[in-house]
Amino acid sequence: MNKQETYESLLLALGGVLEGKQQPLSIYANVSALIKQHFPQFSWVGFYLYDGNELYLGPFQGKVACVSISLDRGVCGAAARNKKTQLVKNVHEFPGHIACDEGANSEIVIPIVKSEKLLGVLDIDSYQLAQFDDIDQTYLERLIAQLISVLN
Ligand code: SME
Repeated sequence: MNKQETYESLLLALGGVLEGKQQPLSIYANVSALIKQHFPQFSWVGFYLYDGNELYLGPFQGKVACVSISLDRGVCGAAARNKKTQLVKNVHEFPGHIACDEGANSEIVIPIVKSEKLLGVLDIDSYQLAQFDDIDQTYLERLIAQLISVLN
């Protein structure tokens, strides 16, 4: 399967994972697992959630990570602050990048915004430089749009 096909299969499976009434935490947990299952080459897949002040670690798949991130720091902070996806081909060139895992080389962070309210971010890391491109961004933004539609 090429990357597009893998994302199509992921989005299909996402429908099942989002079915029925669920707690947001359960949704975030299964969605992080679902992404990691489809893309084992991603080193870290997880959510940072917004408490109205800063981002705190939510459900994830991967190594132990930083527990809180202020909005003025890191790739996650930039995505949350600007409410815009951050696609970083080389994290070592990103000012203020937070290295939770020294092995990470590229990263994509998608903000989760519902009715203009910031709920958190989806953060994905890779050991491979330039792992992520426009295709990842398009599909992951679609995934987040689907996820937002079931969150209150
Ligand atoms: N690299 C992120 C921090 C979170 S970890 O990658 C899991 C950042 O710069 O915001």
